[in-house]
Amino acid sequence: MEQGKRENWGSRFGFIMAAAGSAVGLGNIWRFPYLTGQNGGGAFIVIYLGCILFIGLSIMLAEFAVGRRSGLAAVGAYKSFSDRWTFAGVMGVLSAFFIMGFYPVVGGWSMAYIVKSFTGLLSVPEAIGDVFGGFIGNPVQPLIWMAIYLVINVLIVARGVSGGIEAAGKILMPSLFVLLILVAIKGLTIPGSSAGLAFLFKPDWSLVTGQTFLAALGQAFFSLSLGMGCMITYGSYLNKQEKLPSNALIVVSMDTTVALLAGVAMFPALFAFGMEPAAGPGLVFVVIPQIFAQMGGIGPLFSAVFFVALFIAALTSSVSLLEVVVAYLMDQKKMQRKPAVYGTAVVMAVLCVLASLSLGVMSGVTVFGVGAFDFFDILTDKIFLAIGGMLLAIFTGWFMKKEDLKDELTNGGVVQFGLFEVWYALIKYIIPILIGIVAFVGITSIAQKGLMIFGLLLIVVLAIFSKKL
Ligand code: TRP
Repeated sequence: MEQGKRENWGSRFGFIMAAAGSAVGLGNIWRFPYLTGQNGGGAFIVIYLGCILFIGLSIMLAEFAVGRRSGLAAVGAYKSFSDRWTFAGVMGVLSAFFIMGFYPVVGGWSMAYIVKSFTGLLSVPEAIGDVFGGFIGNPVQPLIWMAIYLVINVLIVARGVSGGIEAAGKILMPSLFVLLILVAIKGLTIPGSSAGLAFLFKPDWSLVTGQTFLAALGQAFFSLSLGMGCMITYGSYLNKQEKLPSNALIVVSMDTTVALLAGVAMFPALFAFGMEPAAGPGLVFVVIPQIFAQMGGIGPLFSAVFFVALFIAALTSSVSLLEVVVAYLMDQKKMQRKPAVYGTAVVMAVLCVLASLSLGVMSGVTVFGVGAFDFFDILTDKIFLAIGGMLLAIFTGWFMKKEDLKDELTNGGVVQFGLFEVWYALIKYIIPILIGIVAFVGITSIAQKGLMIFGLLLIVVLAIFSKKL
C-alpha cells in the first residue's frame, strides 16, 4: 500500500552511516565508560561483549528483517501481522519519547562544552568537577543548549530520510572516528596510563552481580539502538538488494569499536590523574577537560574537538529516535513529515525540561524515589529495551514464517547466509530465555522497586489497550 511513496536510503554507504550513526552515540562515549567504571571495569566489558555477540547482533538482524519485510516502521510492522502485537511497537514509540526525554539534555551539555573548552573555565583541573555540577544544576543554561540541540534535530529529520538523516550521517560519522582516535592517542601517551588499560582489560570477577548482567544487557540494547523498533524503522527504508547480515555485522562492529575506543580515550588518563573510575554520568565531562587542561597551550582546542565528536555522535543517534516517532505518525496516522516532526519535538522538549531541572532546582521532586532524568533513563534502559528485544525475538521466532525470514536474510536465495540456522535457534529459543533470566534477576534486584512495578504494569496496560493505535 505504501510502496509507491515510501522513502528509501540513497546508497549502501549512506544506510550504513545512518544506522551506525544511530547506534554510535552518547551510549558509547558518555554512558559506556561510566557504566564500565561503576561496574568494575574488565569483567563488565567481557559480559557486555558477550551480550553484543550473542544477543545484540542477532536482534539487529531480526529488526532489519522485520522492517524490510513489512516495509513499515515499528508499530506498522507488528500490526501488519496482528493487532495483538501492536503494543510491542507502541512500547517502542513510548521508549523513543522516554529516551528523548533525557538524551537532548546530555546532547546540549556536549554543545555547551565545545564552547566552555575555550572560556578558560575548564583550565583549572581542581575546579572542573564543580564547573560541571554547577552547570547541569543551573536552571537556565542547560535548557537553552538543550533547545538548540533539539532544533538541530528537527531541522535534519524534517528534511527526510535520504536528504537529511543520511546526508548528515555520511559527513558526521567518519569525522567522529578521526576525532576519537586523536583523543585516544593523546590519553595513551600520558605517563602512568597503563593502570587504566589494566582496569579495562583485566577482568576482576569479584564485583559481578545480577545487576551487572542487566546493566550490560541494557547497555548493549541502548548502544546498538535495539529493542524499540529503531532498526526496524531504518530497515524499512532499505532496498531489497542490500545484504542484511553483512550490514548488521558492520554496524555492530563499528558501534563496539567506538565504545572501546571511548574507554581507551578515558581510563588511561583517568588513572594517570588518580581520579575515581566510578564517577558516574559526569565522567566524560570531568575527565576529558582534565586531560586537556594538563596540556596547556593547545589543550582547549583538543577538548573542543572531543566535544564536537561527542555532539556529532549524539546527533546522529537522536535523529533516529525522533524518526521512530515520526515514521509511526506518518505510517499509521497518515501525517505529513513536517507537522509530525514539529509536534513530536515539542513533547520531547517538555520532557527534557523536566529531566534537566531534575538535576538542579527540581531535585526534590521525585517519582518512585528518582527525578525525571533518572526515571526516563532507568525505565528504558533497565526495563523497556530488554523486554522490547525479548518481544521482538519471540515475534520473529514464533510468529513469522521461517521461509519468509530465510527469504529476507538471503535476498530470496541470491546471497549466502550460512549461519541462518544458528541465528534462527538463537532468536527463537536462546535469546528469549537469556533475556528472560537476566531481566528477571536484574529487575527483581533493582533498587527502585516501585519504578520497576510501574514499568511492568505500563507494558501490561499497553498490551491490553493499545491494539487500535
Ligand atoms: N544507540 C544510541 C547511543 O548509543 C542511542 C539510541 C538511538 C537508541 N536510537 C536508539 C537507544 C534506539 C535505544 C533504542 O547513544
